[in-house]
This record gives sequence, structure tokens and C-alpha cells, in this order.
Amino acid sequence: MRVLAVETSCDETAAAVVDDGRRVASSVVSSQVDLHARFGGVVPELASRAHVELIVPIVTEALELAGLDQRGRPVLPAADGPGAPIDAVAATVGPGLVGSLLVGVSLSKALAMAWDVPFVGVNHLEGHLYASFLEEPALELPVVVLLVSGGHTLLVEVTAPGAYQVLGGTKDDAAGEAFDKVARYLGLGYPGGPAIDRVAGDGDPELVRFPRAPMEGTYDFSFSGLKTAVVNYVDRNPEIRTEDVAASFQEAVVDVLVEKTFKAAVSLGVRGVCLAGGVAANSRLRERACAAGAGLGLPVHLPSRAMCTDNAAMIGAAGYFALARDGASGWGAGAEPGLGFGA
Ligand code: KG4
Ligand code: ZN
Repeated sequence: MRVLAVETSCDETAAAVVDDGRRVASSVVSSQVDLHARFGGVVPELASRAHVELIVPIVTEALELAGLDQRGRPVLPAADGPGAPIDAVAATVGPGLVGSLLVGVSLSKALAMAWDVPFVGVNHLEGHLYASFLEEPALELPVVVLLVSGGHTLLVEVTAPGAYQVLGGTKDDAAGEAFDKVARYLGLGYPGGPAIDRVAGDGDPELVRFPRAPMEGTYDFSFSGLKTAVVNYVDRNPEIRTEDVAASFQEAVVDVLVEKTFKAAVSLGVRGVCLAGGVAANSRLRERACAAGAGLGLPVHLPSRAMCTDNAAMIGAAGYFALARDGASGWGAGAEPGLGFGA
């Protein structure tokens, strides 16, 4: 089954064609980072306006790269061409910015209606869980997935496609939010995660021991105290090098993420650990997760950086399994900016 997927939950306009929930025929992502950088964060109204302008060209490009025309049909006769027509259209319905979500949901429903195929609404967070499966279709389940993005920090056990158990999550700031806020405070610009990752490479991760919130007896996380500790420390020690603050802060975040993830993996006896979400692109987190997995003899699945950050291929995979599990979404499906996960 061929799914056209659309992702417009935040500031990436993305479209992809995914076959059987596992093979990516095409994936196109247009980032609006440059548009928002001078404001130090995503400006919702600008994001929605940019999605409206970009969505048709991006969807057209994804279709073309998969050998399809603007009606979702193969350009070449089936005997010569690579592909089949589009069987379903999936779009992120939430969580995210309402104005951004509406653009992707409206276009996707219109295409599904015009092409007479089902529409399926996808939870953006569920999409992130599929990143590793797309790149390693033979990956063995169950796994524990650490999903760390700009808006969410979740630890999830995946026993089968579509079967999840949320083990814990952040009680305040998401991991990516902490990176972005600390980067802004340090004057490193937006987006903050990649900037901290970059400068931390030249810093000493052990120079300052910032607090690690233990959240004893749970798989929950808390990062707002750490952010405050960084601000207080720098205010009292203005001579400290930014590289050292960035490296020490990053180490504190990575310490708790890695410790809880592998504790959960061991106690549940799963077959591996996957990282997902934008923060999973972090070099130190990837390095430490690999080392922890090697120490325990547990496979660690690290999606490519492009698959960690927002993209539509992951929405196509989640959409395929959601359609198989629950059937099509109703035509009344709308944007759900506050959509939760695993409740
Ligand atoms: O998954 P994502 O692209 O969008 C959301 O759904 O939120 O994640 C974006 C987040 C941002 O907070 C960004 O700063 C962070 O991922 N991020 C990183 C890195 N690359 C992106 N954080 C730490 N290190 C990175 N290399
Ligand atoms: Zn995301």
C-alpha cells in the first residue's frame, strides 16, 4: 500500500511517499529555520503562511520523486514504471501549532477526497517512534524508544507497530526546550540544540556538575531546574567559557536520558533501544547511548539525523499502521494542537 504523507505540525513543511509502512519512495523536507531564526524561535503566524506557500510544491516534488503525477498516479505505464498509485493520504493532526496543522490536514483531506482514497490522521509523536523502523525494517521488537524533541520527552515501550506503553515523560520542560532555552541564554541563537552540540565539542563536560533531577522510582524527567542552575551559575561566574557551560549542561541532560532509558530497557528485558526526535541528533547522546548499549550487549538503533528531526516519512509509516489498525479517519477529522500520547 502506497501512502502519501504530509507533515506541517511546526516549522518544517514535509511530504513523503511510503510503501507498506516500511519503504520510503520519496521524502522531501523544507525547513523554515532561516525564516524564524531572527526572532529566536518559531513565529506561529509566519509558520502557517509559509506552509500555505510551500505545501503544494513540496507535495508535488514528493510525488514526482516517487514516479507519480499530481493526481497520485504513476507517470510511466505500470509495466515500465516503478510504482503503483497512491492508496491513502496521511497527515499529522497534532500535537503542534494549530495554524500549521490546519494547512497539512486540509490539503491532505482534499487530496484524499479528490483521489477517492482514505484519509488518516496521525499523531506526530507516534510518527517519531517509526524513525528506526523505516531505516532498519528488520529491527526486533520489543524496544524501548527514547523520544526527545522540542516539545516532548517520552520513554515508550513498543511491543508491536501500534502497540505502545508510555513508561514516563517530562514533568516540565522537554529536553529540546531545555537545549533551546539554555542556548538562547548563552547567546548561541536558534535552533539551540545543534548550536550547543557544536560548541560543546570544544568544552569540558566535567567542569561544572549541574544538578541531575533523579525523579526517584519513576521513568519521568525534569529539566527546568537544570536550566535555572545554568543561568544562576553563569550569572555568578561570568568568566566561564561558553563551551564549558554548554558541554557541562549537555552532559547533565544526556546523563539522565541515558540512565533512565537503559534502566527501563534492562528491567523490561527488551531487545533493543531506539532514539527518536530532534534531540536524538545530538552527538553526545548518540555516543553515550551506543556505549551504554555496548556495555549491556543491547542493540541501539540510531536513526539518521534527517530521520530524527521532523519529516513526513515517519508520518507515512505511522499512517499505514494506523489505517490497518483503526481504519480511515472520518472526514470531520480536524487539527488537534494539544493531542496527547498514550493516554
Ligand atoms: O523533533 P523535532 O525536529 O521537532 C519537534 O517535534 O519538536 O525537534 C526539534 C528539537 C529542537 O529543540 C532542537 O533544538 C533539538 O530538537 N535538536 C537538538 C539537536 N538537533 C536538534 N538538540 C540537541 N542536539 C542536537 N544536535
Ligand atoms: Zn517532532
